[in-house]
Amino acid sequence: MAQTVAPHGGTLVDLWAPEAERPERLRAARKLRAIPAHERVRADLELLSGGGYSPLTGFLGRADYEAVVERMHLAGGLPWAIPITLGVPREFAASVKDGETVAIVAEDGEALATVEVAERYVPDKEREARQVYRTTDRAHPGVRYLLEEAGEVNLAGRVTVLRRPMPVEFPAYHRDPAQVRRIFEERGWRTVVAFQTRNPVHRAHEYLQKCALEMVDGLLLHPIVGATKSDDIPAAVRMRCYEVLLEGYYPKDRVLLSVLPMAMRYAGPREAIHHILVRKNYGVTHFIVGRDHAGVGSYYGPFDAQDIFREFAPGELGATPIFFDNSFFCRRCGNMASVKTCPHPPEDRVALSGTKVREMLRAGQPPPVEFTRPEVAQVLIEWARKA
Ligand code: ADX
Repeated sequence: MAQTVAPHGGTLVDLWAPEAERPERLRAARKLRAIPAHERVRADLELLSGGGYSPLTGFLGRADYEAVVERMHLAGGLPWAIPITLGVPREFAASVKDGETVAIVAEDGEALATVEVAERYVPDKEREARQVYRTTDRAHPGVRYLLEEAGEVNLAGRVTVLRRPMPVEFPAYHRDPAQVRRIFEERGWRTVVAFQTRNPVHRAHEYLQKCALEMVDGLLLHPIVGATKSDDIPAAVRMRCYEVLLEGYYPKDRVLLSVLPMAMRYAGPREAIHHILVRKNYGVTHFIVGRDHAGVGSYYGPFDAQDIFREFAPGELGATPIFFDNSFFCRRCGNMASVKTCPHPPEDRVALSGTKVREMLRAGQPPPVEFTRPEVAQVLIEWARKA
């Protein structure tokens, strides 16, 4: 069978409790000290459970945390860009003993997972914000969660998952890394490029995806469906856009649409590194990084998320980023192009801001076909009317 790439660290981590033990473990978990699961924590548990975060087997201990924050590596030397931590209130941390097992509990009062607490430590969150987000501004959604919502003390330790941590909103597209890898194998793909996204698909996205697909065997469309900013377009609408687009414009045997139930952190450059490592765990060999990848507001330069890859040795990440310059439809070229390939001035380019597109949709007006495929525009207009 064809293989794509090994998971980060060599082995795909599996943190699920054996199925036969789950009912008993769930009952036993009712007696443990309980941490209510924030949606961010749920998404991290989901990624931990099936090895999306390989080689992590739980929430980071101090040595790994410090190494990730300072040097974008785990203490053992593997690249890792975003600290995956479990912050709890100080009083809760004080009530727990090292070695104690605690439960992370959903709204229904039942555990999602247990954590064997190996360590408790107080992170320097301001420093974490500066290093990871390049800002301490609480208006930044990732920084706001870190400084205002996550607890003051990090609990570290191995996780055992007892129930699916994230609601399965899109059953036909919800696949763990092992399932995605199996599909790549069955299809005989040796090279696969992944596309990360949190926005409705438009023609510049399609251009990036198809340019990349020209060079590899398959394309993994991997939209984030975990927590996003409240003003981002809901995942269900974005998924519908992909369905109508795939129906009309993509070769089915070369494309796999699967959701990524991970939360957006909007950490721009650091998040691009996180994104490529997670997608490597899902089995991809290549990863698209365009303009202002995972950015928000004006915290990052448009190509900071590409420049950061230079901080890693060649081959160190184990998957290859494919960089794209600002892309658009050019009327003079008569096709999609980028700043790299189009010699014409900005007036010839069909470029619309997100705000402008929203205005048009609310007015029931489809964006130009050079910007959005009509089938996709229709889905967005229907949503905007109801919203
Ligand atoms: S992101 O937060 O997931 O990065 P979005 O869904 O808009 O936001 O982008 C998905 C990917 O497409 C990212 O790699 C981004 O850099 C890239 N991208 C989006 N629009 C363009 C564009 N017009 N030109 C070049 N790259 C783009």
